[in-house]
Amino acid sequence: MQLFPALLLLVLVVIRAETRRGKRLGQEKSRGRNRLNSVQHFAGSCKEYIQNGDTFLDCQDQHLTAVLLGWPEDIDHLLLAQNKITVLRDNTFSNFRNLVSLDLQLNEISLIEESAFSGLSKLTTLLLQHNRLQVVSEAIFIPMPRLKYLRLHDNPWTCNCQLDSLVRFLQVPSNRYMGNYAKCAEPTRLWGQQLKTLDPKLLCSPPMQAQVHRLHSDTTLLCQTQDFPRPLLDCRSRGLKAVPPDIPENIAKIDLAFNNITQLRPKQFVTIKDLKLLNLSSNSLEHIDTAAFAGLLHLRELDLANNSLQYFNYGVLEDLYYLRTLYLGDNPWICDYNIHYLIYWLKHHPAVEYTGLLCSDPEEFRGWPVDSYVKTYNDDCLKDKQVPLHRGTDPTDTRSQELIAEVEEEPDLLPSPLRKKEPKKFEIFRLS
Ligand SMILES: *[C@@H]1O[C@H](CO)[C@@H](O)[C@H](O)[C@H]1NC(C)=O
Ligand SMILES: *[C@@H]1O[C@H](CO)[C@@H](O)[C@H](O)[C@H]1NC(C)=O
Ligand SMILES: *[C@@H]1O[C@H](CO)[C@@H](O)[C@H](O)[C@H]1NC(C)=O
Repeated sequence: MQLFPALLLLVLVVIRAETRRGKRLGQEKSRGRNRLNSVQHFAGSCKEYIQNGDTFLDCQDQHLTAVLLGWPEDIDHLLLAQNKITVLRDNTFSNFRNLVSLDLQLNEISLIEESAFSGLSKLTTLLLQHNRLQVVSEAIFIPMPRLKYLRLHDNPWTCNCQLDSLVRFLQVPSNRYMGNYAKCAEPTRLWGQQLKTLDPKLLCSPPMQAQVHRLHSDTTLLCQTQDFPRPLLDCRSRGLKAVPPDIPENIAKIDLAFNNITQLRPKQFVTIKDLKLLNLSSNSLEHIDTAAFAGLLHLRELDLANNSLQYFNYGVLEDLYYLRTLYLGDNPWICDYNIHYLIYWLKHHPAVEYTGLLCSDPEEFRGWPVDSYVKTYNDDCLKDKQVPLHRGTDPTDTRSQELIAEVEEEPDLLPSPLRKKEPKKFEIFRLS
């Protein structure tokens, strides 16, 4: 019984909103850009609130991929942590002139354009930790003369020439709250070194010269080496997140079991030419670069059991001429087109014994030996023809949801990269 009045009310509200909109559009034609104040689109559910006299706009964890139009600009603190932002374009924040703090941690930012922070002349705190930054130039900080607290840790910094200006900037004594704990992820010879204390001269030195400075100490301190009966490096259960750099070149066995290694990078072992056994079992390996095992001509045993592997990149095993045993158990192998390379390779290397190659997905093949799956695939050629080559691009993935938000155009006031775009009435923000 309550339903009818409620519906009526809803209809009235909608009609009213429509007429208001119509009126506004009319006004706009006559009065140009006076209407900006009426823009009130809060994509997702950002919250604006006041605490101790400061205005906060809280847009955390909203699956945002960009800073959206129509947010209130007269705010002191902008919270954008835990979103999906990948790039900060020039002038992204130029309208937030009073901003004192900007929290961008836990996004996926890998690129910051040089004028991204322009206009932020009052900013004192900038949080960029837990992102995907490899290089940024010191120039991005120029628009922020009051910046005092800068967090950059947990980004995969590439310590090469391009990082020179940033490293020197962080090392200026008055910048003591900037960039603490940020470390190099690349190149291997500088892995784990702090940007705060790294000798900037090492950044631009050519690789050949750098070899001379190689520090053998870290790895040999961290792991135990044993020379008899065979040179062995024991790095078991050391909480490692990556293969340690500077492994002595005469080593024949490496035990890296029970660490937290998630990926193998290209040519990770290329200098260890006599390696016979590599134990990477019980790590968190998800990805093995195609060139990860490059140069391991004499490797005989490779233990990859109990990881998170789903398939092998085409070509991963090509250098392993003398491989005899491959341990593959307890990995979530996915039986689709990507797994064929592994079976193909094993077929052409009958001397290789392998264990534990069972499908864990899709459900119809769960528990099957992978080679049985490949056999049915080949028997029934038509089937699976349309399986996409690369996972993760499945357009039918319905976990993502699309939100259509109306965007009012105000070309002169948009950040410049947006201004160049064709005016359009609707923008689609993909929430995943
Ligand atoms: C792996 O890392 C997680 C958190 O990053 C930690 O809880 C766990 O103890 C680590 N495991 C090992 C074997 O170091
Ligand atoms: C690798 O290490 C695990 C855990 O210590 C061990 O069970 C396994 O036998 C080792 N693999 C090889 C090939 O030695
Ligand atoms: C598999 O790895 C996990 C850690 O990644 C470890 O806790 C577990 O004991 C391992 N299982 C076996 C059978 O070694």
